[in-house]
Amino acid sequence: MEKVCYTVGGRTILTDFDMLFERGVNRTILGVSGSGKTTILKLILGLIHPQHGRIFINGLEITGQPEAAYREQRKKIAVVFQGGALFDSMTVGENVGYRLFEEGRLPEARIEEIVREKLRFVGVEPALNLYPAELSGGMKKRVAIARALAADPEYIFFDEPTTGLDPIGVYNIVSLMRRLQQDGKTTLMVTHDLATAFATSQRFSLIHESRLAFEGSEAELRASELYNVKEFLKPTDQSLFV
Ligand SMILES: Nc1ncnc2c1ncn2[C@@H]1O[C@H](COP(=O)(O)OP(=O)(O)OP(=O)(O)O)[C@@H](O)[C@H]1O
Ligand SMILES: [Mg+2]
Repeated sequence: MEKVCYTVGGRTILTDFDMLFERGVNRTILGVSGSGKTTILKLILGLIHPQHGRIFINGLEITGQPEAAYREQRKKIAVVFQGGALFDSMTVGENVGYRLFEEGRLPEARIEEIVREKLRFVGVEPALNLYPAELSGGMKKRVAIARALAADPEYIFFDEPTTGLDPIGVYNIVSLMRRLQQDGKTTLMVTHDLATAFATSQRFSLIHESRLAFEGSEAELRASELYNVKEFLKPTDQSLFV
């Protein structure tokens, strides 16, 4: 993202925002609630469009282009949305296979195989024929991850994957993310959960007041003398975030 500006409903969400997301470098975008983290993911996916600035995927500019022009690049990215966003009227298996069924390129039996394989990977294969309403929050998140994996993406975006989970649920998601990284996937996560961020990422971007307030490694983040960074890591009573 190069100098991206995004305004919605008269509010400036991003100003001259720069971010380089590289293959093999797992990154976390940090920022308080409402700071624009989910917005960044939507901009990269082309679901919303910036007023200024440029966005590239694998070197191909997506800003100002019709979706057809970058569809192949876009396919390399999968998203695990905040809250999972599963289809309630479909079973777990149908949710996971949805995109492959829609594309209609693979025989049904092969899709079923892929669905089972992905559900096994996230540890919820027995839930194949259940509906989302029958699952716990942690299981829903894992099914959402299985769905993202079905299309065999290179890059996976995680929007607050651990929010609302108990410590075991958080541990499960962290180990899943690590296994994906070992399998050669690159992750971009949005969260305010610092422990998960440090357990899964090498680089960190902090948004504050519509700008990139910090970019760097964990050691640089922890050692930062920037007021915004210190307040985010260790808020005080006088915090500007309170
Ligand atoms: N369609 C819209 N109209 C008006 N404001 C919007 C719209 N979409 C998003 N916003 C505002 O943009 C800001 C950034 O939203 P975004 O969802 O990116 O925040 P976030 O950092 O992901 O927050 P959270 O941590 O709570 O998920 C919020 O203040 C939100 O209210
Ligand atoms: Mg969000």
